Amino acid sequence: MQQGGAAQGREPRSWLDPCPLAEGSLPEVLADPLAPLALLRYPRFLVGMTGPRFTPPRFTPLAASLPATVPFVGPEAQERALGRAFRARLGANESLFGPTPRAIEAMARAAAEAWMYGDPEVHDLRAAIAAHHGVTPANVVVGEGIDGLLGYLVRLLVGAGDAVVTSAGAYPTFNFHVAGYGGMLHRVPYRDDREDPVALAAKAAEVGAKLVYFANPDNPMGTWHDAATVARLVEAMPEGTVLLLDEAYADLAPAGTVPEISADDPRVIRMRTFSKGYGLAGLRVGYAIGAAPLIQGFDKVRNHFGLGRVAQAGAMAALDDQAWLDSVKRKVADSRDAIARIARENGLVPLPSATNFVTVDCGQGGDFARAVLAALVERGVFVRMPGVAPLDRCIRISVGRDEDIAVLAEVLPQALAAARA
Ligand SMILES: Cc1ncc(COP(=O)(O)O)c(C=O)c1O
Repeated sequence: MQQGGAAQGREPRSWLDPCPLAEGSLPEVLADPLAPLALLRYPRFLVGMTGPRFTPPRFTPLAASLPATVPFVGPEAQERALGRAFRARLGANESLFGPTPRAIEAMARAAAEAWMYGDPEVHDLRAAIAAHHGVTPANVVVGEGIDGLLGYLVRLLVGAGDAVVTSAGAYPTFNFHVAGYGGMLHRVPYRDDREDPVALAAKAAEVGAKLVYFANPDNPMGTWHDAATVARLVEAMPEGTVLLLDEAYADLAPAGTVPEISADDPRVIRMRTFSKGYGLAGLRVGYAIGAAPLIQGFDKVRNHFGLGRVAQAGAMAALDDQAWLDSVKRKVADSRDAIARIARENGLVPLPSATNFVTVDCGQGGDFARAVLAALVERGVFVRMPGVAPLDRCIRISVGRDEDIAVLAEVLPQALAAARA
């Protein structure tokens, strides 16, 4: 409320003034001789004076039962809490090498046309993705990042009480969507810091899962399985179970990681993104490749205008510049080596990685790793860590440019000393 109401000598009220109850407290309004006249134009405020004015939102029972959690707290929120910007942003597995300049030019051109909605069929980008992978556009759906597509897929396949399988500590946004549609999540442990395909398939059979989540390469551990192992996992899917193969980091993985899977195989849907190797995390473009009947299903639930013109143009240009992706791959590999070396120099153990981050074993339990992470954040280095034991003995450091890694090299010894103190 503004300072000074009717009772404190403000300008005399006209009966055409805004409703006095919206502006002043009840005693102030009563002290205003013209207030009753103005109130007559706002009967709902008169009603409101005699009883409760607002009812709480009438959530569905499912929505009301959900915990008030978000899968990730963004670095911007952390910067606001810290009151300063991070010196090195190495926590969200973005590409600090950026997108190809050709994508930036294409997005700049598209920006002038942003008064138009994007093509709701995403026709050209779907065609380009299909050609890139040697499949047909009917096998491709494009969405608002893998995160958006995860939500659509879960909405299509998972109803209240349906069984879903993932690994304990795997990508949490998937779990968030499963909870959001009332699915029953079953988790199997990692084995030797890798997702365990045999245990995932066994659990799927045991609980009659409709959907199994498997990321290869994996986040948060950075580890991976070879293509033959993934192919065996597809074969091991029980009748009626769909394997969701999250290949967010496949662009950066070594040869022999990505299996040949027919796009028309109804047992598997694979997901890719422009957020990692292509350096367009802020654009929100991902895609899924799968059998046409499942892919067509997305049209029933997706936000048809979810992909703007700028996003479609940027992704098209990025896909078209594979030489840029190759150069990013080399930089990612060099940066992984640099992070691993810094970790070892500080007495920590870097895990092998097929991604754009290195997960570093801090050698003690979760409390120590959390203390290291907090000390890094406090000193301006944004990193994240796995949320579940025993994975939470590690911190996860995204690759970056030389200047970002130099900040890490400077700050990590200080953070370890602070955590040990
Ligand atoms: C395994 C995995 N899947 C999906 C995503 C999200 O991808 P997108 O940016 O396309 O939503 C991430 C991002 O970190 C990831 O690590």
